[in-house]
Amino acid sequence: MICDRRTILRAGLLGGGILGLSACDSGLLRSPAQVPQLVPLRSRCPIPAPYTVDLPAVPVLRPDGRGRLTMTQRAASAEILPGMSTEILGYDGLFPGPTIEARQGSPVHLTIRNELEVPTSTHLHGGIQPPDSDGGPLDLIIPRGFDPAVLDEAMAAGHAAMDPGNGHSHAHHAVPWTLHDRARTYHYPMVQESALLWYHDHRMDFTGPQVWRGLAGMFLVRDETEDGLELPRDDRELLLCLSDRAFDEDGQLLYPARDPELLRTPGVEDPFMNGVTGDVMLVNGAPTPRTTVTRGRHRLRLLNACNARQLRLRLRPESGPDLPFHVIGSDVGLLPAPVEVEAVDLAPAERLDLLVDFSSLPDGARVELRNDGADGLDRVLAFDVAGRVEEPGPLPTVLREDFETLTAAEVVAERTFDFRLSGNHLWTINGEPYDPGGSLADPKLGTVEKWTFTSDFDHPVHVHLGHFQVAFDRNGDTDPRKRGWKDTVRVTPYGVVDVLVKFTHFRGLYMLHCHNLEHEDMAMMANFSVV
Ligand code: C2O
Ligand code: CU
Repeated sequence: MICDRRTILRAGLLGGGILGLSACDSGLLRSPAQVPQLVPLRSRCPIPAPYTVDLPAVPVLRPDGRGRLTMTQRAASAEILPGMSTEILGYDGLFPGPTIEARQGSPVHLTIRNELEVPTSTHLHGGIQPPDSDGGPLDLIIPRGFDPAVLDEAMAAGHAAMDPGNGHSHAHHAVPWTLHDRARTYHYPMVQESALLWYHDHRMDFTGPQVWRGLAGMFLVRDETEDGLELPRDDRELLLCLSDRAFDEDGQLLYPARDPELLRTPGVEDPFMNGVTGDVMLVNGAPTPRTTVTRGRHRLRLLNACNARQLRLRLRPESGPDLPFHVIGSDVGLLPAPVEVEAVDLAPAERLDLLVDFSSLPDGARVELRNDGADGLDRVLAFDVAGRVEEPGPLPTVLREDFETLTAAEVVAERTFDFRLSGNHLWTINGEPYDPGGSLADPKLGTVEKWTFTSDFDHPVHVHLGHFQVAFDRNGDTDPRKRGWKDTVRVTPYGVVDVLVKFTHFRGLYMLHCHNLEHEDMAMMANFSVV
C-alpha cells in the first residue's frame, strides 16, 4: 500500500487505541527517508549562492558580578541577505539574540524588557529553574498600552479555528495568565552541568511566528569538569544556531500566519499546519555561510533552532570519505565518553556537542556541513581549512566520570503521552488540546519516572525541568551512553520512545510539549506538576 501523508493522518484520526494501529504501523515508516515531507515556503527574492557570506560572530553577554543581565526585545532591521534589510523581532534587536555565557554555581538574573507590540515570554530551554522563572506560555511580559482582553480573544479564536464544532467537548479551566508590565526578571540558579541551552519566546499560541521572526538565542553553561578537559576553545569552539527561513520579494521573512499582526487569531494557513519550513538555511543568522578553520581539532556546538525541520548532518570534503564526528555531549550535558559517528540527527530544539578533526585535510581544502534532505535544503555551512597542521593530540577517553546512568530499577511511576492530530487543526496530547489550568501528571520531586511517548506523526517532544535518558526507541538508538542527558527527543511517525526522566530541584507547574512550534501553537502542550 502507499503510505502517504493522508493515509497517516487518516490513520491518526480513525485508528483507535494509543498506538493507532494501521497498515502504516507495519514498519513501512521506519526509515527517515519515508517521513512525510513538510512543504517548504519558497523565497521570492534572490538568495545568495551558498558559501558566499561569512559566518557571523554572535555577540556574547556575560552576567555582571552580581549575576545580572538585561536584554531588550525590539523590532530592528537586520542585513540577513546581503544588500537587503529584513525586519526582525530580536533580543537586543539581533537575529539570533546575543549568546549568554553563564557558569554552574553562579545564579543569573536575566531582565527582559519588551519593547515590541506583542506579548512575550522567555523560556530558558534545558534550564533547571523555578516555575515562576520558567517562562511558560501564560506568564507574559505585555508591552506598553497593550489591552489584556486581546489575550482571551486570541485564545477563544484559536479554539474556535482549531476545533470547529467537531463534537469534542474539552473542559477548560479559566486561563491563569500572569502578566508583567513591560519588563521582568527571570532567576536561573545555574545548578546544572555545562551544556548549550537556548532561550526563546514561548508566548501562548504565537511562539512559532515570534521565534521565526528572531526571538531566540544561545545560552552556554560552563563548569569545572569541562574546564578540566582539553577541549578546543576560543576560535576553535564554534557555536552554530541553525534555522531555516524564507523571504518575500522585499527580503522580509515569510510566515503563513493567519493574523500577521500576531494579536487576535493564532495558527497558520492550512497547507502549513504540519509545520513551517523555509528554503534558506541560516547559520547564526547568515544564509548558507562559510568560515575559515585551522587544520586541527574543533568543537562544534550545534543547535537546531528551526520551527519544524529535522536535520541529518554530515561533513563532506571535496574528495575522500566523509569526516567523522566525535559526539561529546547532547542537549543538557557531556556524555560519559566520546562516540564516533558518521552523521548526526538533530531534531528541532536538540543540541549536539561535537569534535571534528580537520588536520588530515590539505591546506585550502573545503569541507561542507551537509544536510541529507529530500527537499533541496542540503547545504548548511562550508569550512575552509587553512594553515599549518596542528597535531590534535589524543581524544579524551573519559568526559564525565560521574555520569549517572538511570536504570529501570529506579522508576517509581510510568506514564504514557500520545501525540496525535485530532479534529481539524488540533494537535493533542492524550487526546486533549492544551488546558492551561490542568495538569496531566504529578511526579514527585527527586524521583525517576518512565515516560512513554507515542505518536502519529513526527514530533520532537520536549520536557521542561526534567532531564531524561532514552531507554527505548523503536526506531532508533537506545544506548543512554551514546545519547546522554536530554530535554528533547524525536518521536518518529508511529514511533515509541521510552525515557527515564528525573525531576530535581523544584516543585510546581511545568510543561511538556511538541517542539514543532506550529504543533505547539496548535495546542500540543500539557502541564505537569512536580509535587
Ligand atoms: Cu524550547 Cu517549552 O520550549
Ligand atoms: Cu508535533
